[in-house]
Amino acid sequence: MCGIIGYCGPKPVKEVLIEGLKRLEYRGYDSAGIAIVNDKGLELIKRRGKILDLKKSIPEKVKGFYGIGHTRWATHGGVTDINAHPHVDCTGKIAIAHNGIIENYSSLKEVLLKEGHTFKSDTDSEVIAHLVEKYYDGSLEHAVKEAVSLLKGTYGIVCISVDEPNTIIGARNGSPLVLGIGDNEMFIASDVTAIVAHTKQVVYLEDGEVVKLTRDGFTTTDLRENPIEKEVEHISWELEEIEKAGYSHFMEKEIFEQPEAVKRAMSGRILHPEASAHLGGLNLTNRDLINIERVKIIGAGTSYYAGMVGAYLLESIARVPAQAEIASELRYRNPVVERNTLYFAVSQSGETADTLYAMRELQRKGATVLGICNVVGSTIARESDGGVYIHSGPEIAVASTKAFSSQITVFYLFSLLLARMRNMSFDEGARYIENLQSIPVKIEKVLSRKNEIERIARKYSHYKDFLFLGRGFNFPVALEGALKLKEISYIHAEGYTAAEIKHGPIALINEETPSVFLIPNDSLKEKILSNVKEVKARGGKVIAIATEGDGEIEDIADDVFYIPETAEAFYPYLMVVPLQLFAYFSAIELGRNVDQPRNLAKSVTVE
Ligand code: AGP
Repeated sequence: MCGIIGYCGPKPVKEVLIEGLKRLEYRGYDSAGIAIVNDKGLELIKRRGKILDLKKSIPEKVKGFYGIGHTRWATHGGVTDINAHPHVDCTGKIAIAHNGIIENYSSLKEVLLKEGHTFKSDTDSEVIAHLVEKYYDGSLEHAVKEAVSLLKGTYGIVCISVDEPNTIIGARNGSPLVLGIGDNEMFIASDVTAIVAHTKQVVYLEDGEVVKLTRDGFTTTDLRENPIEKEVEHISWELEEIEKAGYSHFMEKEIFEQPEAVKRAMSGRILHPEASAHLGGLNLTNRDLINIERVKIIGAGTSYYAGMVGAYLLESIARVPAQAEIASELRYRNPVVERNTLYFAVSQSGETADTLYAMRELQRKGATVLGICNVVGSTIARESDGGVYIHSGPEIAVASTKAFSSQITVFYLFSLLLARMRNMSFDEGARYIENLQSIPVKIEKVLSRKNEIERIARKYSHYKDFLFLGRGFNFPVALEGALKLKEISYIHAEGYTAAEIKHGPIALINEETPSVFLIPNDSLKEKILSNVKEVKARGGKVIAIATEGDGEIEDIADDVFYIPETAEAFYPYLMVVPLQLFAYFSAIELGRNVDQPRNLAKSVTVE
């Protein structure tokens, strides 16, 4: 989604804004711009294309000590220079940058046009600049409050004016904004990655809040001028965690961080003396937990697939009925919220609009919804009724990888917790923990053989269509593997439960449509083997991800990638890594933009 950066302070603002925008590149964008106020007035430079193009087009002479910047991911209006942000008012003295969607912008624009305002762009965001101009009466903060009070939809905006030097006004409703507190300098941005190089003292704005920023500090109020006290938080991330650390891409780095990420997700949460788990932040007592009669899990994309693994685990390990559902579907089907049902909202960014609004709909109906998020202080994390951070560290690549492994880790832990309150014995719990704690080393082992999966990926990268097939715990992983290939290599791929191909998809099979089978040495192996043979009998090529030592599959599949043995329920951890690498190396072979695939954004904060 769009990225926002603002700065007031002693540093040359142009450099701070450009560097901040570069750190927001991972969010995905198609144009960028900055607005700086100096003794010449308001300088506005904006371009379609990459930040490098923008930087080259900024005249050396442009100086100044405060300003705003924006990376745009087009929602209304084409990708053009004029549609890039920031947008200015008729006088050219007020500039705004906006993240979100103004749903009533047409009617607002109609009124403003009648009042004589002239528009330059065909974006929804530009109406904000003209509304601020309309209501400006000497206080920029007041004018912004008047303006945003008329908006329907979502916004995170920053606004500056020539007539109020060294001041930035920020306002938030639905699109995140975070303040950075420096020494005689202040920052405001869409997320902490844009400011962590300068300060780790941050303040998260909430919906309905407005902030007035100067280099000396900030004040926050609501739209009715009530002052709001804000808590300063400390970010624990280091800048190098956000850098690539020697890898070719963020995606590669994050795939290889998974052993550490899984360890961090488990850290401090395994109770050996009780052969159970402890998840602080659930805000649920043991009595609450024992009264849970079913679990429902919502999410989008990869997070939804992690939720599907969670549902399989809860039902299989804890014997609690569980179901995962796509958040955007649940939201609009007037869901029935049942008593003694616990909901989870899974979201790496904690800002996905589909998941956030579905959570709010569930809460409106009285549901208890726990968040499983990665970004501390994110909206879903703060608005949920409790929850568990996955601690996977910043995930920069648009394609989610380590977050998936960390998300399912939380479900492995929660399933253990519930199971040990119900039917799982101490010894069974101890064995379960042993299996869980053996996973990071086993992931390392899979990663150590990346060259084998690279060979397979390059061999098959010219095909245009793939099927990904798995069963049981690995069905969600097949879906995830198909998503990964689609989103970064742009090759069409479908995930299916293996048995289902007989009911239609097998019509797709020919020499041009390879099938990737997840076929661990578990209780379903023979069933899947028959599906493999059905595909082979029709000339289909088969890539198998199988358990080490399983020679039988070698005689049938065209290519096999072996993973270490583990207990049946734990194969998702080991199956997903070769699929991530398969997608990664396919994308490389095809020359794709691996970290920022076309059309995609890291966090989809619009519906
Ligand atoms: C995953 O590779 C995709 N980029 C996308 O499906 C993502 O998982 C989805 O948008 C949900 O994001 P979230 O986890 O931040 O809510």
